[in-house]
Amino acid sequence: MIPFIDLKSQQEKIRSKIDKRIKTVLDHGQYILGPEVRELEKKLEFFANSKYVLCCSSGTDALLLALLGLGLKPGEGVIVPAFTFASSAEVMPLLGAIPIFIDVDRDTFNLDPTKLDNALKTAYKLGINVKGIMPVGLFGQPADMDPINKFAKDHNLWVLDDAAQSFGSKYNNNPVGSLCEVSATSFFPAKPLGCYGDGGALFTNNKEIYEIANSSHVHGMGKVRYEYDRIGMNARMSTIQAAILLEKLYIFPLELKKRQNVADNYNKHFNKLNLGIRTPILINKATSSWAQYTIILPDDVDRNKLQESLRSKNIPTAVYYPIPLNEHKPYEKYPVSQEGLQNTIYLSKTVLSLPMHPYLSESDIMFIVKSIAETIKK
Ligand SMILES: Cc1ncc(COP(=O)(O)O)c(C=O)c1O
Repeated sequence: MIPFIDLKSQQEKIRSKIDKRIKTVLDHGQYILGPEVRELEKKLEFFANSKYVLCCSSGTDALLLALLGLGLKPGEGVIVPAFTFASSAEVMPLLGAIPIFIDVDRDTFNLDPTKLDNALKTAYKLGINVKGIMPVGLFGQPADMDPINKFAKDHNLWVLDDAAQSFGSKYNNNPVGSLCEVSATSFFPAKPLGCYGDGGALFTNNKEIYEIANSSHVHGMGKVRYEYDRIGMNARMSTIQAAILLEKLYIFPLELKKRQNVADNYNKHFNKLNLGIRTPILINKATSSWAQYTIILPDDVDRNKLQESLRSKNIPTAVYYPIPLNEHKPYEKYPVSQEGLQNTIYLSKTVLSLPMHPYLSESDIMFIVKSIAETIKK
């Protein structure tokens, strides 16, 4: 079986270093908030060109902590794409706030900035006080942040970048993590930079946001131990995960280059054939961390049958995401931009993610592309 994501090959390369790092943690015994967590935060500050980094227990918690830091209140609204993972939208209702679903761009899979005005008007008509926008860097490419930031500024909104999938990519040559007020990423094992459990981080240049998030992630504790400034949660990162991430971060830049190379090879082999498949498109200003390599199938291709046929050849594939978020039961009651979600609906029916990891060989890529061509042409 071709691995969809190959964590084994990566681990073989750095296993002895990871073993050493874990042994150090076992020796010093500070399993929670040990020195590796701060060391990782420092390294991530530099990597993401961000003044403050808070490592925490997951990408979802990083989003939640960011919203706490931004002071989102019950009943207030946040504009978020409907074509994304549940975490992007679930954090609003957890705080009693309201996600307002907006459509994405067909080419980039990301929030379409030209549709922000309509989303905002939709919310205002419903009497919702919109406070912010949450773009999502889906599949690895950041959203088009310049027009999003401009719209936010013009309308007195903040921007929280859900960079769970796009950490490691750049926009206008600036690293994700530094593109707006706050960013959040995930270190879930399958992410471009993943640990061996759950983990996440929040990035901001705003001291107040950082301080609230920092306090909130240890039960709202203030500067004095066991004195509480606010209602908080337990969202600490395990020291062992930080230790693992320190080794993974070291090879991350090289792996990002390898991922780009894999994407280039896919593009090259798909473009040789005339299958009517649309390969991923990057906007000029952006690079991608290639969390996924996602193609758009022609309308007449039966996606289930294609997946089945590829599975029979030991090629795993995945559909991210088969149902727009607003169509799931818990989200049905939240508003959808009046302009509708045409692209989200179209993409949810036609996207297919193929194996993607830094160690995917060109011969495997050729086999995958050939197998798709054979099935589609039948
Ligand atoms: C777009 C997006 N946002 C948020 C998350 C949440 O990250 P975590 O699983 O670490 O909580 C994910 C993880 O899959 C994601 O893909």
